[in-house]
Amino acid sequence: KASSRMRKVMASLIRHVHDFARENEVTVEEWMAGVEMINEAGRMSTDKRNEGQLLSDIIGLESLVDEITYKLATDATDAPTSTAILGPFWRANAPARKMGESIVHNIPDGDHTFMHGTVMDYLTGEPIEAAELDVWHTAPNGLYEQQDENQVDFNLRGRFTTGKDGRYNFYCLRPTSYPIPYDGPAGKLLQLLDRHPMRPAHIHFIVSAPKYKPIITQIFDRRDKHITDDAVFAVKESLMVDFLRRESDPKADFELPYDFRLATF
Ligand code: DHB
Ligand code: FE
Repeated sequence: KASSRMRKVMASLIRHVHDFARENEVTVEEWMAGVEMINEAGRMSTDKRNEGQLLSDIIGLESLVDEITYKLATDATDAPTSTAILGPFWRANAPARKMGESIVHNIPDGDHTFMHGTVMDYLTGEPIEAAELDVWHTAPNGLYEQQDENQVDFNLRGRFTTGKDGRYNFYCLRPTSYPIPYDGPAGKLLQLLDRHPMRPAHIHFIVSAPKYKPIITQIFDRRDKHITDDAVFAVKESLMVDFLRRESDPKADFELPYDFRLATF
């Protein structure tokens, strides 16, 4: 079954690529440049650098397949939390942390933020027990921990598990906007298209719970100046959040309330 689906999809891809070549009267030289772009992406990819995914993301493909795959999520406030692309920087097996812990280690600058909320059933509003929140974001220098030898392993990452009340809370940073890596083929393509490499400030999540459909998503700082022109097209209205001033907490200047709404299988 999977292989017949694959045959159909690949045959269709080939037809579309042929049509593309005919429509543009692609020359041998141009075709060779395309082959070289793919080879260069392959050569520079490692477990810390996924150039193929970057290329796919700047042409909006991951965002499009996210939309196609998770049709159920809409921007209505009573719908399940909307999904967003995974991106190339998720790592499996982030450390399990206790509620209230900080995911920030050895970062002198940055706006510390207390994030909190409830994981709930989107239809009943009931809190979900044993829901896992897997969170990750960049340092103020715009780098994820695996891109930056000055950060400790798994910095700015963690997994939190809810109790009976479905609530979660932890300390993180108010993230900053930053460029996707643009020193490879993806950067060249952006330049060719007259586009910038910036992503609006965001925090990534995978939220999962027994009997519920997991969601992969990101939340975005509404006030970020790149909120309307994300280089990888991941922003949705319902995923924009407001960071609030937090008074009388020596550990954080900002507070971010946010609930996650899941749907059962
Ligand atoms: C991409 C996604 C991210 O979340 C990120 O931080 C950088 C790049 C991407 O989709 O390519
Ligand atoms: Fe990211």
